[in-house]
Amino acid sequence: MRVIEIKHPLCHAKVTELRDKNTSSVRFRQLAEELIYLLAYEATREIEVVEITVTTPVTTTQGVEIKQPVPMVLPILRAGLGLLDGMLKIMPQAEVGFLGAVRNEETLEVTTYAQRMPNDLSNRHVFILDPMLATGGTLIKAAETVHKLKASKITAICLLAAPEGIEHLKKNLAADIDFTVVIAGVDEKLNEKGYIVPGLGDAGDRLFGSAG
Ligand code: URA
Repeated sequence: MRVIEIKHPLCHAKVTELRDKNTSSVRFRQLAEELIYLLAYEATREIEVVEITVTTPVTTTQGVEIKQPVPMVLPILRAGLGLLDGMLKIMPQAEVGFLGAVRNEETLEVTTYAQRMPNDLSNRHVFILDPMLATGGTLIKAAETVHKLKASKITAICLLAAPEGIEHLKKNLAADIDFTVVIAGVDEKLNEKGYIVPGLGDAGDRLFGSAG
């Protein structure tokens, strides 16, 4: 497993604004979209391409296009949806699956409640979108799910991570899973309620309000 922390002043400034409890949902969604552009630039560095010939108004030259089968983006419901639009703007060719995961707030155990994706992900690079890498339980569930369906490479894109969650992934994710996590920042710790500290609170609520 590889961990890539994007240390960039633009990311840092946007994360700072996300953390502010007075940042509105409208602005929060805007910032999440801007951040995913920066994170996705790095996260998609290893997507597979094939050479093609392109004819310009002047001559013919070689270029590339994304290889088939195209990557699949997998937002984890519900907070991952806040990163989906930005990801699709960067890589509009991608297909989209969905995975619903919920955490028991007492035991912090993660269960999945919805799954829409192909039964066969052979030769596909899968991009999991989940803003908060807290205990790591959700990412392990998601990575194991797509690995079982034969995804060739898995990259998770998160906004913030807790050191405990990263350690949990390192210890518990099977070594044969080709897994990379790209994050904008690693915070101090998890609190007893499983929230990242200093964090930004409940990412789903901050993005969409508390109705869901
Ligand atoms: N999920 C969140 O939305 N926030 C946290 O701090 C941890 C998990």
